[in-house]
Amino acid sequence: MAILVTGGTGYIGSHTCVELQNAGYDVVVLDNLANSSEKSLERVKAITGKDIKFYKGDIRDRKILKEIFENEKIDSCIHFAGLKAVGESVEKPWEYYDNNITGTLTLVDEMRKHGVKNIIFSSSATVYGDPAEIPITEECPKGQCTNPYGWTKSMLEQILSDMQKADNEWNVVILRYFNPIGAHKSGTMGENPNGIPNNLMPYITQVAVGKREELGVFGDDYDTPDGTGVRDYIHVVDLADGHVKALKKIEEKAGLCIYNLGTGTGYSVLDIVKNFEEANDLKIPYSIKPRRAGDIATCYADPSKAKRELGWEAKFGIKEMCADSWRWQKNNPNGYDD
Ligand code: NAD
Ligand code: WQD
Repeated sequence: MAILVTGGTGYIGSHTCVELQNAGYDVVVLDNLANSSEKSLERVKAITGKDIKFYKGDIRDRKILKEIFENEKIDSCIHFAGLKAVGESVEKPWEYYDNNITGTLTLVDEMRKHGVKNIIFSSSATVYGDPAEIPITEECPKGQCTNPYGWTKSMLEQILSDMQKADNEWNVVILRYFNPIGAHKSGTMGENPNGIPNNLMPYITQVAVGKREELGVFGDDYDTPDGTGVRDYIHVVDLADGHVKALKKIEEKAGLCIYNLGTGTGYSVLDIVKNFEEANDLKIPYSIKPRRAGDIATCYADPSKAKRELGWEAKFGIKEMCADSWRWQKNNPNGYDD
């Protein structure tokens, strides 16, 4: 039996393919390459020594979904495919709702028509909005999202939960990621943003490699120890491993489960700069800028439910996250582009 990985050529998806293959699963990837390169799968294969079946196509395309479910023996789906740029989602809400919501509705409809009712869904800590409690447990009420991207995650959680309640043959595991950074130890795979990075770590690595002059730190007057925003950064390989553990849960008939995937430790923007500099013996010039719209002061997880129920916890610390992010960027200044 194989696992269908939608969005499998992307940042988290490609790292998850490595961990799935290392755990003995057969992997089929569906991706339209809207935000990724097929080359990531070559790197996966070079690491694992195993082949991956790749379908280039869109999750909104019923024809390609039928082809996959008719030709491959799919047991479960890990659903990463989606658009994820917060700012762009404010500019293009229709495109985000169509891609993420219509896409997921189409995918799960074809899944059930073909008797595949196991799904792991990529959600986000963004569904907590400005969180009512810190550290954030899964019991923390979902909050008001500040952008359409966040709402797609919040709405899709609701849709998948309602489908599972109506038909308990479904196993739905919702994983709420905190802030994924880092890269595979080999330095051959990593995050490959288009244009100016929105997220902190790719911006820092692009400053380090000389593509950007300095980091802008968005606000130093938050109610945090040094005034800059605090987040729960998690190594992408730990995150990938969380999906393998979630699959085991599905194999035991999970029903509906929701887990935070974070480390439980918060680091400020300036902590990240300092750790990056120390881990890599580099200097990152930065200056303080105004707050970024929609940002919150502090966000970190209570990850104990995932430890208790999945036997999962993050293994990598902040220094490894910083060293691995830099090894990838240094070896591949233009990402997967030659
Ligand atoms: P990514 O952009 O690298 O990967 C997403 C992949 O989905 C890309 O390869 C893209 O080409 C593909 N895709 C998008 N729309 C598609 C469609 N309609 N049909 C087929 N393929 C499509 O992003 P990522 O960081 O690897 O994120 C993976 C998932 O995790 C996303 O759903 C994202 O929203 C979620 N997530 C990411 C983060 C983060 O900070 N990276 C945090 C929380 C949740
Ligand atoms: C982290 C911290 C910024 C860039 C976003 C999405 C969330 C999820 C993860 C997908 C904040 C500061 C950043 C920069 C800065 N994505 N920063 N200068 O905002 O926690 O989460 O990515 O699901 O939904 O909202 O991550 O990496 O953008 O920011 O000072 O150039 O770094 O203000 O405090 P964020 P981030």
